Amino acid sequence: MMQKNYTETLDEVRALCAGEDDPVALMATVSCHLYRQIDGFDWVGFYRVVSDGVLKIGPYQGGHGCLVIPFDRGVCGAAARLKQIQIVDDVDQFEGHIACAASTKSELVIPLFNAAGEVFAVLDIDSDRPAFFDQQDADLLDRLLREIFSGQSAYAV
Ligand code: SME
Repeated sequence: MMQKNYTETLDEVRALCAGEDDPVALMATVSCHLYRQIDGFDWVGFYRVVSDGVLKIGPYQGGHGCLVIPFDRGVCGAAARLKQIQIVDDVDQFEGHIACAASTKSELVIPLFNAAGEVFAVLDIDSDRPAFFDQQDADLLDRLLREIFSGQSAYAV
């Protein structure tokens, strides 16, 4: 995907989040900046682990997201359950995909880990373009998230 201002945008997120460790403040800032700056990011937001096996909507930008996602459903659930980044080129081919917007064609979901290695949230980015996300996008965003969300607890928010 990689567009001209991509790494610049990630550096801006770093600068905006510098010195902050409140998870809601960080999630709101990351969602807002990525959504506004990257063409093709149509929904950007976080789902938080609120109890064993349950994700709930957190700060986001875009249309309404569904409120609750169990770990056994959807792309977000898979990322949280498997503790692995999910890159989905065609959401229609992903069994159990939860369609919050019919326009969504591809998705990237990145799990966020606390110091104990537990997933405390996931970042979900949706695009209305097919196969919009590649491994390089995932790696760059993953590195950013590990930097700015270091030191969170399991059920932080
Ligand atoms: N894409 C998600 C559902 C949440 S919305 O798209 C905001 C999923 O299947 O996990």
